[in-house]
This record gives sequence, structure tokens and C-alpha cells, in this order.
Amino acid sequence: MSKQLDALRDKVRRAEAGGGPERHERQHAEGKLTARERVELLLDEGSFEELDKLVEHRCLDFGMAEQKIPGDGVVSGHGRVDGRLVCVFAQDFTVFGGSLSETNAQKICKVMDLAVKMGAPVVGLNDSGGARIQEGVASLGGYADIFLRNTMASGVVPQISAIMGPCAGGAVYSPAITDFNVMVKDTSYMFVTGPDVIKTVTHEEVSKEDLGGAMTHNAKSGVAHFAVDDDRACLALIRDLLSYLPSNNVEEPPVHRTDDPPDREDPALDALIPAEPTRPYDIKALIRAVVDESRFLEVHEHFAPNIVVGFARFGGRSVGIVANQPAVLAGCLDIDASVKGARFVRFCDAFNVPLVTLEDVPGFLPGTGQEFGGIIRHGAKLLYAFAEATVPKITVITRKAYGGAYCVMASKHIRTDLNFAYPMAEIAVMGPEGAVNVLYRRELQKSADPELLRRQKVDEFREKFANPYVAADRGFVDEVIEPRQTRRKIIAGLDMTRTKRDKNPPKKHGNIPL
Ligand code: HXC
Repeated sequence: MSKQLDALRDKVRRAEAGGGPERHERQHAEGKLTARERVELLLDEGSFEELDKLVEHRCLDFGMAEQKIPGDGVVSGHGRVDGRLVCVFAQDFTVFGGSLSETNAQKICKVMDLAVKMGAPVVGLNDSGGARIQEGVASLGGYADIFLRNTMASGVVPQISAIMGPCAGGAVYSPAITDFNVMVKDTSYMFVTGPDVIKTVTHEEVSKEDLGGAMTHNAKSGVAHFAVDDDRACLALIRDLLSYLPSNNVEEPPVHRTDDPPDREDPALDALIPAEPTRPYDIKALIRAVVDESRFLEVHEHFAPNIVVGFARFGGRSVGIVANQPAVLAGCLDIDASVKGARFVRFCDAFNVPLVTLEDVPGFLPGTGQEFGGIIRHGAKLLYAFAEATVPKITVITRKAYGGAYCVMASKHIRTDLNFAYPMAEIAVMGPEGAVNVLYRRELQKSADPELLRRQKVDEFREKFANPYVAADRGFVDEVIEPRQTRRKIIAGLDMTRTKRDKNPPKKHGNIPL
């Protein structure tokens, strides 16, 4: 027996040693933590239960039979975050470059299956050279097995990917299917084909960082939702993100204790929206002023900043906030903003997170770039997402709600439960200037003083339509509220909608315009 125990202990020791001290040192020198250090930091202290520590690869080619490290390049198992179950895998770059073998993929699939069965989020910490070259199709099959599970788990349990090193080739498609991607600045990158292949095929020269670094994917492609300075910040952010989410799609998000009074009014908000309708203001100032303890976890901060999305709490309850940002592009909806908003809305709807929409939108962004790029198709995504969402929905029109964007941004017509508007809200088919140009073109051409006439007509139009009262008169706006009352009204609305029951017609799935 003692021989077997010695053998076991030796295997466990070798598994825990991973690629050994030299490779661990190299990992640290690059500013990265090891897989085990990452898992320890992610989870509540001492809660990690490792699975498949003794699994080894089965490859006999290329001298691999002599090179076996128990665990085979991925640390996997389960633990707790704030006491709640989380399944986790962390690729270990110090073992065969964290590359994905058949057995390594089986380990990942096992924790994903466990997560779905137990109703727990999956967190994947990616740091890998991709498919294990020595294993050929067995490794590719392993990736496909993971992709299938990512797809099946989508909308069932939250899936979060951290990119903490290389993530290249088809390997990127697992994070791409998951709900949130966090990238570590300077040490992580993602691309389908790397700089060398690009140079050969298109003759473009681009660095790894510019091609697929954290800021490229946060600001340009929108593939990543968060950029963080280092591994520690990455893991802390994931813990924070999980605190807003339920463990699965049949649970409600956790309720947090708060000392922030639900009836807190902020008189300064009455002066936040500028009297001049074309003057910008920062919608994030409004968000921070009304949510619990001013805490707002912004998602996709650097991508399409003309729309702001993220998580916050009202009276301790999680909400997803979707807000037009008048400080960027006047808050217009463009292709990127529509896609960003739609994906966030669908996540919240899938996971029972109520939606609070703050609307100040002059319309969709005009231009050939937008039309040729498919703003019709992409804008429809946001409309579709808001319309199909059955979670509690509350909208506050803070200023402009023009044209199609009025309909799209969680209007009453697409099943929003409570629609509020500030007294300075402007709700119309288009802005007064545009409307006057269309309606009075002939009169303006004939007028002796077209400027005076234009101004008179603009004032007339504004008086008639650019206010919330026509919409309130029809019940499209439930109540015109003072800005200072925003927090109280939203919290009362969330209380009212707590028992909401709404369903979509039975179907295999809808056909969102992709
Ligand atoms: C086997 C690999 C490996 C891989 C790295 N290693 N990638 N072993 N399969 N895919 C090994 C290296 O041989 C090395 O072993 C150790 O990991 C560390 O790698 P280094 O090259 O020394 O590290 P570094 O200089 O930091 O470079 C990292 C790297 C590079 C840029 C990731 O290793 C690299 O280019 N790897 C190949 C990437 C790749 O093309 N993968 C396939 C992508 S396609 P030793 O023993 O020398 O320390 C793909 C398809 C997925 O993944 C398809 C899904 C559908």
C-alpha cells in the first residue's frame, strides 16, 4: 500500500509542479501568474476542489510518450466565489504551452458539463498556444467538443472567459461564444491568423499587440468587454462581475445589502440635463447618481461609447443598464452601438436581470458608411432584443427620443413595463429643424425672410411635439417625473415588477437578424 501511496503522492507532486520552477519563473517574468495562482485568486480562499489532476495525454508520436505531466496543461475543478459555486478551468502555459490535447479538452468539457448540471457559472482562464500540434485532429476535435458545450451552455449558465496569454486560431471561438471576455493588457492577445500569416497573405505588417491586443479588442473589434492592467485585476473583476449575476437561468440574481436609502432624492439631477437640447452631458453622471452607492460596472466601456451598458444595483437588486450617451456622437445609434446594446440586453434577459434604459437619442446615425455597413440589419438587432425581452423593463426618457430610435429603446410599444420621461423630454418623429425643413420647404423657399420663418416654425413644432405630454396623453409614457425622483421611481418600479410573468410564443428559436 505504501508503494501505491508513494506513487500517488509523486504524481500529485508532479501535477502541482506543472512545467517546473524555470517555466514558472518565465511566466512571472512576463508579468503573468501561473494557472494555480490564478485559480487561487479567483476563488474564495481554500475553496478550490481540483478534478482530474492525474490525467495524462495519450499521444505516442513525436516523442510525447516520454513527456507526460499529470494534469496535462490545464487545472480544472470547482470552488466558490462569495460562497457560490463556480466551475473553473485554467490553461497552464508552463505545460506544453497550455496547448489543448484530447485529454486536456476532456477535462475542460467535464467541468463545463458539471457547471450546466449544477447550474453554476463557468470561468475559463485562457493562456494557450492552441491546438496541441503533436495530436492533430484529436486536438481539433477537442476544440469542437468545447465549442458545442459553449453553445449548449449559452443562456443556461453565465460563461466568462479571461484571456491571460495567447489565444489564437480557432481557439478564439470558445471565448467568442461565451458571455464576457476580459483581456489583460500587454500580456494577452487574440487573433484568427497571426501577423506572419497576414504578412504572407495580404502583405500587411502589423504587430501582435495592434492586431489582437487587449485594447484592439476592447476599442476596435468589440470582441472583448473588459481591459484590465494585470492578472490580479482580471480575477478581481470576474469576482465583481459574478456578484451581479445569478448562477443560472432559473435563478434570480443575488440581492445585496445596501445602506443607500431607496427614497434618496438628488436635487442636483434637476440641473444635469442642459436646457439647450444640443448641449451634451455625461449620462454616466446620471447613472452613478441614482444607483446604489454610485457603483456601476461598465461593460464594453471602450467600444461604441455612444451607448453605455453595464451592471448596477437598485435597492440591492441587480439591473442591467442600457443608456444612450449624449456626450459621444450626440448619443446616436450606429452599427456598433446597436450590436453592443443588443448582446447586453439578450444576456440580461437570458439571466433574469431587469433592464433599466436611459434614453436620450436623436436617432440612427446617418451616412453611407452606416447604410452600406448594414445599419438596418444591425439596428434591428437592438429592436429585436428589447422586444423579445421578458424581464422587468423600465425606461426613462431623459431628453430626446426621436424617430425609429424612440421605438427601439425599450418603448412602451415593445412591452416595457414602466416608461417615465423627464419634463424636458422631446418625443417626435424627428428633431424640430429636420421636421420644419420637410414640412415647410415650399413656404421657406417663397418667404422673404426664410430664417425668421424657420425659427418661428421650429418654435411652433417644439411647442407642439418636442415634449413628453403628447406621449403621456396617449399612455405611451406612464408618468412624467422630475429628475431628482429617478432613483425612487426606478426602485418602486422594480418592486412592482418583481412578480412579473411574461412569455414569448413557443418556438424552436427566433431568427434575430444576425
Ligand atoms: C504543442 C506547443 C504549442 C502547441 C506552444 N507549445 N504551442 N506545443 N502545441 N500548439 C510549446 C512550445 O513548443 C514550447 O515548448 C512551449 O509550449 C512554450 O512555447 P514557446 O514557443 O517557447 O513560448 P513563446 O515564445 O511565449 O511563444 C508562444 C506562442 C508560440 C506564440 C504561443 O508557442 C506559438 O506560436 N505556438 C504555436 C501557436 C499555433 O500556431 N497554434 C496552433 C493555432 S491553430 P518547449 O518544450 O520548447 O518549452 C489552432 C487551431 C484550433 O489552435 C482549431 C480549433 C477549431
